[in-house]
Amino acid sequence: MLINKELGIKYPIFLGAMARITDARFASVISNAGGLGVIASGDMTKDEVKKEIDLIRTLTSKPFGVNIMLQSPYSDDIVDLIIEEKVPIVIFGAGSPVKYMDRLNEANVKVFALVSSTSFAKRLYKYNPFGFIVEGTESGGHVGFESTLPLIQVFKKEFPDVRIIAAGGFATGESLNAALMMGCQGIQMGTRFLASEEANVDIKYKEAIINSRDNKTTLTGLKFGLPVRVIKNEMSANYHKIEKDATSVLDLELLTVGSLKKAISGDVINGSLMAGEISSVISEIKPVKKIFEDIILEAKEANKKYLSLMDEINNI
Ligand SMILES: Cc1cc2nc3c(=O)[nH]c(=O)nc-3n(C[C@H](O)[C@H](O)[C@H](O)COP(=O)(O)O)c2cc1C
Repeated sequence: MLINKELGIKYPIFLGAMARITDARFASVISNAGGLGVIASGDMTKDEVKKEIDLIRTLTSKPFGVNIMLQSPYSDDIVDLIIEEKVPIVIFGAGSPVKYMDRLNEANVKVFALVSSTSFAKRLYKYNPFGFIVEGTESGGHVGFESTLPLIQVFKKEFPDVRIIAAGGFATGESLNAALMMGCQGIQMGTRFLASEEANVDIKYKEAIINSRDNKTTLTGLKFGLPVRVIKNEMSANYHKIEKDATSVLDLELLTVGSLKKAISGDVINGSLMAGEISSVISEIKPVKKIFEDIILEAKEANKKYLSLMDEINNI
């Protein structure tokens, strides 16, 4: 069964949480348009997240989720809040939520975890998460090392009975179909929604995405094992220059601290323009509603072609 049926949403598509970007307002736009809106709690305190939850409840009656980054010092408090507030869906990133699983399962919160390797997912699997969001290195922002295509397949093999939402490299109906044909229950998109009319980022950041071509993203942070995918700019070029001789991440702090904030406010020179490889495919800033409609239309058209291809295969 696709994830939209299980969660009571129209489309099997999640908004990828994006710190400082996917707040209650933007998440509600996604939920109202038929996807799963997700509030990124980033480095917010419990009180700040509570305000976002209160706000989204005034903006939509549709399901929504909250993303918790486990390196946040407020994770324990935010998990308490999720349970107190009966938030239906939680999505963990940047760590393993094992210590929270029993309480969340007992409270009937549907738990998804963002994962980019099977070894990492193995222990969590025993705690019965509702689903894995399997994210390939093509994605924007902080990434792992494996590509989406093999990663989905190895997850299907290792965890055949877990729901999988594929992330990293999705923006079209064809790619939605591909994920579903591979046994995923849905997809998550970050970069595509970043280049939507409603996203809370400066137009210059959105234009950097739609003007990007293949081979125009790069990874910063590789040397210290914390890769971040960004669109190439002066900031990433400077980063790579300094990175060569750097002995710790601290040597790069001057460049990285506040760099996403700079991008969000339109500093496309010094900002960290976090975005995925799929930027090369995205050529238009569209309203969220149109993004969903186009993807579903493309998926349906592609399905027709797929059926005749299947006939050809059957006739081999
Ligand atoms: C600017 C930006 C910020 C992100 N911040 C978060 C975050 O706070 N929490 C998280 O779990 N994932 C974060 N992600 C990952 C997205 O939720 C999503 O999984 C990813 O963008 C999917 O790949 P795509 O960009 O190819 O669509 C971020 C991605 C981007 C581009």
